Amino acid sequence: MVCTLPPGPPLPGLLQAGLIWFDPVRFAQTCHRRYGDLFTVRVPGIGTLVYLADPADIRSVTRGDPSIFHAGEAAAPLSQIVGTKSLLMLDDGEHRRSRGMMLPAFHGDSVRGQVAEMVAITAEELTRWPVGERFPLYPRMQRLTLEVILRTVIGVRDERRLTALRVALPPMLEIGSPVELIPPPRVLLRFGRWRRRAQRRAAALALLTDEIVRCRADPQLKQRTDALAMLVRSVEDAGAPMADDELLDQLVTLLLAGHDTTATALSWAFERLTRHPALLHRTARAAEDGDDAWLDAVCKESLRVRPVVFEFGRKLTAPVQLAGYRIPAGTILAPSINLVHHSGQHYPDPEEFRPQRFLDQRPDPAVWLPFGGGVRRCLGATFAQVEMRTVLREVLRGVELSPTTAPDEPVRPRHVTMVPRQGAMVTVRRHIAAADRATTA
Ligand code: HEM
Repeated sequence: MVCTLPPGPPLPGLLQAGLIWFDPVRFAQTCHRRYGDLFTVRVPGIGTLVYLADPADIRSVTRGDPSIFHAGEAAAPLSQIVGTKSLLMLDDGEHRRSRGMMLPAFHGDSVRGQVAEMVAITAEELTRWPVGERFPLYPRMQRLTLEVILRTVIGVRDERRLTALRVALPPMLEIGSPVELIPPPRVLLRFGRWRRRAQRRAAALALLTDEIVRCRADPQLKQRTDALAMLVRSVEDAGAPMADDELLDQLVTLLLAGHDTTATALSWAFERLTRHPALLHRTARAAEDGDDAWLDAVCKESLRVRPVVFEFGRKLTAPVQLAGYRIPAGTILAPSINLVHHSGQHYPDPEEFRPQRFLDQRPDPAVWLPFGGGVRRCLGATFAQVEMRTVLREVLRGVELSPTTAPDEPVRPRHVTMVPRQGAMVTVRRHIAAADRATTA
């Protein structure tokens, strides 16, 4: 049977790539309006992508046979950063095995055990926030979420080692532009920026390797609650040890997948709240009163209206029948989180920021998919939501933020995430002392 692709813009590949890079929101929305729920885009260096905007089609992909819908292959360009043994790169049996070993560290009970650490880290971060001047929140949130991963996922306590990791890791995780994901010819690796990049990476990996070695030898290993220690222990329990090189790739993966994403999500939550004074006020009260249901609704609505990741990918290992098309093997299907979240069919007034949509009700996983879906759904989804709720609460308990009449910050692509273009500018009106809180509560 002949394979067919859905229609798409008849533009040269490089132009399509440029349009996606410079304005992904407009590009996808324009194609969606013109071609409907499935459209084909060609991006040099990546391949043929079919965007999906219909929840039923997306479900048949996320629920489909994982041996046909390969997420690892679709994410191949990231292997330069995370390594070939990373969970993100694996498919089929290898993926099942590694994910099974990693899951317990990210279950609700394990994550809840990390909340006190998240509270302490947020309190430390707040002491550095200036009063009365506008500043971008995003870099502060990046610092905060990196610290959370260092202490709760890798379990580093020693201040000297923490300092070294804080310096060495961000440059290794910085992708910059998608062009940097294209491997340069080997000969170039000995020169200029490529050489410096390789050196920085080697230095960061050496520090992480040191953490693995220390963890294995730690007499307190059994008592430790961080993800690295749990991984090392689960290796022992399973009887098939996860080798150090795989452990290293998984640590880099957790750093890459778990730090900038959550920092971006938190930045958007504050960007949205400061533009809605009544909601900001209500959320500050909820933080004070311990009204977690409201805080949770704010996080969910923020992830809906400003999803951090716009689409996820599955590369087909065999032709697939979808919405009347027979899509050939080798195509990357790209379920569009952003198009689903902004559809008036699924959300009335989809552009409005309205946390009430999620108050006391579970989101429908077919139309709320900031964390993807199926067997590849984000491993850290619970961790990220607990962290968002905790940081939101502690920030609003610790400082009073000024609302703003500034225009909404546009979305700026930053490799696989979509960040606020100005970095989520905020102004702190005052720091709230614990004594003040006691009197207003
Ligand atoms: C708001 C924050 C976050 C967002 C929006 C987010 C989003 C996503 C998305 C869309 C995927 C792809 C899912 C798919 O293909 O179906 C993913 C995968 C993944 N995420 Fe997250 N993520 C976040 C935080 C985290 C955190 C905190 C961690 C860990 C500390 C993490 C670890 C991972 C891993 C390991 C995968 C790969 C899962 C697999 O392939 O089996 N993420 N995430």
